[in-house]
Amino acid sequence: MSEPIVWHEASVNRAERSKAKGHRPALLWYTGFSGSGKSTIANAVDRKLFELGCHTYLLDGDNVRHGLNNDLGFGDEDRVENIRRITEVARLFVDAGLIVGTAFISPFRADRAQARALAGDAFIEVFVDTPLAVCEQRDPKGLYKKARAGDIPHFTGISSPYEAPESPEIHLRTGALSIEAAAEQVIDYLRRQGFIFEGAE
Ligand SMILES: Nc1ncnc2c1ncn2[C@@H]1O[C@H](COP(=O)(O)OP(=O)(O)OP(=O)(O)O)[C@@H](O)[C@H]1O
Ligand SMILES: [Mg+2]
Repeated sequence: MSEPIVWHEASVNRAERSKAKGHRPALLWYTGFSGSGKSTIANAVDRKLFELGCHTYLLDGDNVRHGLNNDLGFGDEDRVENIRRITEVARLFVDAGLIVGTAFISPFRADRAQARALAGDAFIEVFVDTPLAVCEQRDPKGLYKKARAGDIPHFTGISSPYEAPESPEIHLRTGALSIEAAAEQVIDYLRRQGFIFEGAE
């Protein structure tokens, strides 16, 4: 028995949307420990892109867990499903022609590889590379303290692994970069790779 689902081709294609917007769609996939600076840097980049006239959208960890993924927990299986849904949503925004940012710890290589496979040449892995000790010292949400006390199971870096990217498109070493400089590094990459067209200053 075959499923009654047939893909319907869209009449407006990705290239047409891109031309209308004046930039190529992209998926900036930020990954790093909790407290590494994903949300902070992604927001700074988003603001810069917005001011350049780009159409953008940001999917951020906690916000998505409040809605779309509020039925998921933090065990390995749920983390995988969390990222799978985010990837599918991000892909819809990319299809719509936007420059999308996703700010999730996304600790598993296989999940990021899946996102890369789905988003194709729009995918840009941004490694927010902040040593665990620095993240724990910052502890902006007090989560490391709770994790060390055993109050949060499966906490990345403490009781759950983080698989660092092997060859990210953008490598931000935040120990040596201000938030502003990190955001500028991302914008520079988008310019150099032609995601943002000449003339966007
Ligand atoms: N160079 C830097 N780059 C980014 N953040 C920095 C930097 N220096 C200090 N910070 C601070 O580090 C903290 C990073 O917190 P942020 O919420 O952005 O992390 P996150 O990676 O989104 O964590 P989570 O996975 O828990 O959402 C912020 O308080 C930010 O101000
Ligand atoms: Mg965050």
